[in-house]
Amino acid sequence: MDQKNLVAQAIVTATDGTLSLEQVLPKIEVPKSYDLGDYAFPAFILAKSYHKAPQMIAQELVEKIPQEDFDKVQAVGPYVNFFLAKQSFSQTILQDILGQQAEYGAQDLGHAGNVPIDMSSPNIAKPMSMGHLRSTVIGNSLAELLKKVNYNPIKINHLGDWGTQFGKLIEAYKLWGNEEEVRQDPINTLLKYYVHFHEVDQEQPELDDEARAWFKKLEDGDQEAHSLWKWFRDESLKFFKGIYQELGIDFDSYNGESFYNDKMDEIVELLEEKGLLKESRGAEIVDLEKYNLNPALIKKTDGTTLYITRDLAAALYRFRTYDFTQSLYVVGNEQTNHFKQLKAVLKEMGYDWSDQIHHIPFGLITAGGKKLSTRRGNIILLEDVLNDAVALAEKQIAEKNPDLPNKEQVAHDVGVGAVIFHDLKNERLNNFDFNLEEVVRFEGETGPYVQYTHARAMSILRKAGDIDRDNLNIVGLNDEGSWEVVRQLANFPAMIKRAVEEYEPSVIAKYAIRLAKSFNKYYAHTKVLTDDEQKDSRLAMVASVAVVLKEALRLLGVNAPDEM
Ligand code: ARG
Repeated sequence: MDQKNLVAQAIVTATDGTLSLEQVLPKIEVPKSYDLGDYAFPAFILAKSYHKAPQMIAQELVEKIPQEDFDKVQAVGPYVNFFLAKQSFSQTILQDILGQQAEYGAQDLGHAGNVPIDMSSPNIAKPMSMGHLRSTVIGNSLAELLKKVNYNPIKINHLGDWGTQFGKLIEAYKLWGNEEEVRQDPINTLLKYYVHFHEVDQEQPELDDEARAWFKKLEDGDQEAHSLWKWFRDESLKFFKGIYQELGIDFDSYNGESFYNDKMDEIVELLEEKGLLKESRGAEIVDLEKYNLNPALIKKTDGTTLYITRDLAAALYRFRTYDFTQSLYVVGNEQTNHFKQLKAVLKEMGYDWSDQIHHIPFGLITAGGKKLSTRRGNIILLEDVLNDAVALAEKQIAEKNPDLPNKEQVAHDVGVGAVIFHDLKNERLNNFDFNLEEVVRFEGETGPYVQYTHARAMSILRKAGDIDRDNLNIVGLNDEGSWEVVRQLANFPAMIKRAVEEYEPSVIAKYAIRLAKSFNKYYAHTKVLTDDEQKDSRLAMVASVAVVLKEALRLLGVNAPDEM
């Protein structure tokens, strides 16, 4: 029985069944300060049925609770405060963690249900932006978290490889393109053409018509359009895959927007059959007034399709292919309206599973408080960020631990891990500013700090030398210093559950920081390797901290080197 249940059950018994377990459990609080115990029950919720002052009720309850189950139970004002039995509790938790190792915290919330996660999804022929980085790392962490609670995540990279922008790009290439230049540096060259196109089309609006015509040709299967498009796509994808490799992230599918080109007729037919398509100034729309949304534009005047048309086809395809229990889209909050429209159109089509579609929005990354934008050409290039972060990590390692074996790999894990951790530590919806020096610091609330704490725990275990780690004599710990750490360790499964329910990896990142902090505080005051009857228990705690920090980092997509 978990500890909160134990406390709730004690209250239920003490009220002689006036309250049920279901009534008590949600009322149990965790006091702000440990002086007030591990858990508290607000006795005033019994005031009506007992016709007594809450202080008196609290007193009476305390008298009825068997003291031997806890270190202490006391009434403070209208509250009953519980101090858990440190020794037996820590014994159980440490045994659990060392028995289960990386499995600790696993639970079955998902019953093996399929969950496609639409994530990363950069646009071909453009650099991957910091926004795409957010989608990539949040999506990846959600996938790991979902797996941990027995869902079956399917990571889908819905590449932006179709749409009017390819008309623009082809037009730009036809006007100013140079094959050799593209081969040498595809992304930057194509971006240059694209940016240039937007500079001149202001004065030459006929360029936009040309671009539209190219996209129309592309959708109609024109050979030249198609082979240029394919070339741009191949080159871009090669480049993106290099970044994914750096990040240590892979995908189950690269079915991007172009994949749905031959699946959109069906969508248009279905919409027609259901009488949902309306003509509006030559274009085909679905009216969404009853949802308080703008109409969804399905087909343009020239018959070409749109972003949402492709998303409708993708949603249906995913439902048919994966029979999903949830379908997630990790996309910036600027697309909130798009996903509302998508769900509304699917709902109108009679698909109840549209309720299982969830947009997982996130905030912007800014630099020096300013928004980043590809159109205006002021972007932070992701590959630069990763390279700089690794270089910075390398520098710090050279100062702190010049003899470290495997330096290059560690610098990579620390630099890249720092960028990922910083992103995930921020609550999804918050905007945050990106400052590389802050991100790669070894102190403060950073990824390297957590990694460093893990490495420190590992080094204590190495120092302990020839202990038999599988046969530790774990008698439990009863001091206050270790208690804070043990409580944190015990919290891990609940944190995983919360992170999944809120689609919020920051819950895990913040948890890892708290655990690392409490462990470092403990370690500053305690000699772990002193020979006494609790030595094995202390070592078990150090080993447990290492296990849980490593696993927490893994759930975020960050490696934990054993030494750094
Ligand atoms: N390529 C889009 C962009 O960069 C994101 C795609 C998101 N996924 C989706 N199914 N619409 O803005």
